[in-house]
Amino acid sequence: MDEAADRVQDVEVSLLLEGVHQVYGYDFRDYADASIRRRLAHWLAESPFETLSQAQSQLLRDPQLFVSLLRGITVNVTEMFRDPPFFKTLRDQVVPFLKTYPFVKIWHAGCATGEEAYSLAIVLNEEGMAGRYRMYATDIDEAVIATAAEGVLRLSEMQKYTRNYQKSGGRASFADYYTARYDRAILAAELKSAVVFAPHNLTADAEFGEMHLVLCRNVMIYFKPALKERCLALFDASLAGGGFLCLGMKESLERRALATGYEELVPNMRIYRKRYV
Ligand SMILES: C[S@@+](CC[C@H](N)C(=O)[O-])C[C@H]1O[C@@H](n2cnc3c(N)ncnc32)[C@H](O)[C@@H]1O
Repeated sequence: MDEAADRVQDVEVSLLLEGVHQVYGYDFRDYADASIRRRLAHWLAESPFETLSQAQSQLLRDPQLFVSLLRGITVNVTEMFRDPPFFKTLRDQVVPFLKTYPFVKIWHAGCATGEEAYSLAIVLNEEGMAGRYRMYATDIDEAVIATAAEGVLRLSEMQKYTRNYQKSGGRASFADYYTARYDRAILAAELKSAVVFAPHNLTADAEFGEMHLVLCRNVMIYFKPALKERCLALFDASLAGGGFLCLGMKESLERRALATGYEELVPNMRIYRKRYV
């Protein structure tokens, strides 16, 4: 693409995101440029429109079309026990602290279709915390939240998830946690009972009060620095002193405004503990 066409596309992207923000209240203006451009180009290629300018007038008038754009912008890729060493560290080094509280509150931001939330429920239940925690698992995308709440996964993924589970220090047989039906795996009810799935938008919504553990993994990689800072401030406001913040393997608190308020629990695991003031 030549420079002039590139410039026009930049303008189209920024006008579209401005319009979407004003009409629908969803603010993608501080999402990382390269990634949002890629997502919009992909959405456009699947749509009947030639250009984003053409799409814009209908998008601003048609909430259904906006929902399809939202689905196109968000990247919902996830898996159970994603990064098994992270889940092992969580089990071995965070849960022992959590167990010292009579009841623990957890916020899992950007949970997508819920696989990480269910993984965490398995860890907590196996470590003897069943009935002693509540997890709020949230996402901007209501469609993925609805899928997450169903707790039904693809059976074809179970081999991989079993390996992840074992590598993360699982104590039982992973097959105990689901029932196979045709090509689906239906997760056990005991994993769902302490998880509340709800919509929450990190660009606009408020903090959750007095959490002991906040996870937000592989979400802020799509954001510009200013929006990362907003999210981190939100997590900080949500966490009690001594609480834990877990980020994705490509994310960190390095060079972030609130870094001094946290200590890294284990190098390179992206698990931080909030200092008591
Ligand atoms: C790649 S998934 C990460 C899922 C899971 N945390 C993991 O690491 O496997 C990113 C999720 O962030 C969500 N997301 C994007 N922007 C968001 C926002 N402003 N507020 C809340 N969630 C958002 C997306 O809808 C998507 O489900």
